[in-house]
Amino acid sequence: MEATREMTNRKLIAGNWKMNGSLSANEVLLKALLQGAQPACDVAVCVPAPYLAQARGLLADSSFALGAQDVSAHPQGAFTGEQSAAMLQDFGVRYAIVGHSERRQYHGETDDAVAAKAAAALSKGITPIVCVGETLAERDAGRTEEVVKRQLAAVIHVNGHCISEIVVAYEPVWAIGTGKTATPEQAQAVHAVLRAQLHHAASQHAAGIKILYGGSMNASNAAELLFQPDIDGGLIGGASLKAPDFLQIIAAAR
Ligand code: PGA
Repeated sequence: MEATREMTNRKLIAGNWKMNGSLSANEVLLKALLQGAQPACDVAVCVPAPYLAQARGLLADSSFALGAQDVSAHPQGAFTGEQSAAMLQDFGVRYAIVGHSERRQYHGETDDAVAAKAAAALSKGITPIVCVGETLAERDAGRTEEVVKRQLAAVIHVNGHCISEIVVAYEPVWAIGTGKTATPEQAQAVHAVLRAQLHHAASQHAAGIKILYGGSMNASNAAELLFQPDIDGGLIGGASLKAPDFLQIIAAAR
């Protein structure tokens, strides 16, 4: 019998701290989260690279997983400023965000570069959280489906059957950090498109691939987004920096 999605999928709530935090603020935040959380879901925090060691220490013996916000496509060598998957693995990193729209926009990351980063992460047993999403102009032009499918297709093409090991995050660019959330129906419609594409690529494994929603998810809208049949969790920016808000989102994911 093919496993149903309900049987296989615990939700995943991942915080993306972006370039925020300090040693003292991180300690306060992580201690409050660990004290307050009784997660019925998987939880990860994707911290800035300099804080991986600190976060690893604070999260030791907890159920929270450690995540990075990027990973180099290269295994080692003359790539100033980059961190390899092996280095992240040294610090116990479980997840690495790849292809976040801020990296596509400010660092010119192409679909091919994102696919290579996903492959680098997978080669070290790190789960890439592959971000896809359309800009407002692309949505207005009716190109949402075409854009997200193209972005995901590049990752599928390079990673073949390993695709069942990735996490996908649908993050409409116009909803990130803007307070404008996709409606649950808008998000679900795109998630269903991505699910069908994954099904085509990974057949029986597609149901187990988590597709997160990201873009102004917060304590008040999380529950109805997470209720959608193809939304398996959230990638949360701003609201992951405030313990009470992030805890409410975690509580909504069951
Ligand atoms: P936001 O960011 O929750 O602040 O909109 C989400 C993200 O960029 O991952």
